[in-house]
Amino acid sequence: MSSGVETSLTVLRILGMTKTADKIIVALDVRSSNEALALVDQLRDQISFFKIGLQLYTAEGPEIVRAVLATGAKVWLDLKLYDIPNTVARAVESASHLGVHMLTIHLSGGGEMIRAAAGARANQLVILGVTVLTSATEQTLREIGIADKVADQVLRLARLGTQAGIDGLVASPHEIKTLRSEFGDKIKIAVQGIRPSWAEPGDQKRFMTPRHAIEAGADYIGIGRPITAHQNPRRAVQRILEELSARS
Ligand code: C5P
Repeated sequence: MSSGVETSLTVLRILGMTKTADKIIVALDVRSSNEALALVDQLRDQISFFKIGLQLYTAEGPEIVRAVLATGAKVWLDLKLYDIPNTVARAVESASHLGVHMLTIHLSGGGEMIRAAAGARANQLVILGVTVLTSATEQTLREIGIADKVADQVLRLARLGTQAGIDGLVASPHEIKTLRSEFGDKIKIAVQGIRPSWAEPGDQKRFMTPRHAIEAGADYIGIGRPITAHQNPRRAVQRILEELSARS
């Protein structure tokens, strides 16, 4: 192979990896801004999207969101809002003004709440709906008076959410195929419960590798501890990118 062709292939491979890297969202599930910003600092040239959830947001508030955004990264604010429609709408406005890229709400809040949330978004905020928490089982649904199977409840809430105007769904990787065949490319799908083949499953029971999740049709894969608890988080990201870019 000529060196020109080799260089072009290397450039294409790097571009491919960059595009793939845009699909990875690192969950900053840590206790403090210092820990979160140390991770962002280490990973920022590899990763451009971070998730801030209830633990970090409750500890550090909007300042940590602003600090991560100030690095030029995107933020998924995973607060899983569930309240009366007016309160959710006002929180969506606040998130829009903060400048986050994605925000989650619980679809079990019902159509009126979802429409209020969708109507209040601004600054191109993407609203993702949570159907049934991945920790929930049929027993959990029974406890709150729902007799359906988890898969049926997921589909019911996903239909309600998309009809009420949300942009996408948070799903278990095992739900991607069903959701894609029902909604096509009209919605964004973000999945969590991801474990690279070399990582410890930990408390995850129904996990999937990054590669299988992307192949199944996920737009975004949220990954936490396999990266953040790794002794070398940069190396962990690199291994995931290599796994994603390897030919089948
Ligand atoms: O397990 P891991 O550290 O990769 O989790 C990353 C994020 O994904 C966490 O914020 C967690 O709340 C979320 N998660 C989820 N459903 C799962 C597993 C993890 O929503 N089944």
